[in-house]
Amino acid sequence: MLKGTRVGLRDRREDDIPVLRAELYNDVVNAARAEGRPWRPVTANDPQLAFDNPPENLASFSVVELEGDTLIGTANLWGIDTHNRNAHIGVGLLPAARGKGYGTDVVAALCYYGFAVRGLQRLQIETLADNEGMIRAAERNGFVREGVLRKSAWVLGEFMDEVVLGLLAGEWEGSGAA
Ligand SMILES: CC(C)(COP(=O)(O)OP(=O)(O)OC[C@H]1O[C@@H](n2cnc3c(N)ncnc32)[C@H](O)[C@@H]1OP(=O)(O)O)[C@@H](O)C(=O)NCCC(=O)NCCS
Repeated sequence: MLKGTRVGLRDRREDDIPVLRAELYNDVVNAARAEGRPWRPVTANDPQLAFDNPPENLASFSVVELEGDTLIGTANLWGIDTHNRNAHIGVGLLPAARGKGYGTDVVAALCYYGFAVRGLQRLQIETLADNEGMIRAAERNGFVREGVLRKSAWVLGEFMDEVVLGLLAGEWEGSGAA
């Protein structure tokens, strides 16, 4: 398990699946805003939930509170590119777990995984320009805003701007994650 200060990132387990499906992936508004693709109903064997044969370019974790081992969401390092040595970060917390500092901690743990475990040199986050929680969680970990992709996301009937944030290995200050 990867450990942040208050969160752990571990493998996906069977009893995570109904919770993630009900509280995260079947929330149409959240999924449409967070996923960058049209929402569709998620089945139990959907690759977002369970990975029998995970693709090489994806590392997908379930997030738990260290105290109590309660499931609170998902964390992904996706688009892992071993030639250019970069990858993207994605985080999805269950509604009850948002706004408590866990997202910041999850990003820290994913940085440890990307930079220290995988030896990457660049991590990137794309998020809707109005997603202040995600932007702040990234900035708290040293990510800098690199640009705005104007009207690049179709979200529930409108085009929205996305922000690109990046962090380089040499800028990463590490953390309590291990
Ligand atoms: C986005 C998300 C990962 C952020 O994690 P979080 O645990 O809620 O955020 P944190 O509690 O760590 O907050 C980080 C900072 O953002 C601020 N913040 C959090 N939610 C906020 C909100 N809705 N509006 C404004 N600021 C917010 C916090 O006050 C904190 O600021 P600080 O560092 O100045 O104290 C989480 O809310 C989530 O999973 N949301 C739904 C899915 C999603 O949007 N995923 C990202 C898709 S790219």
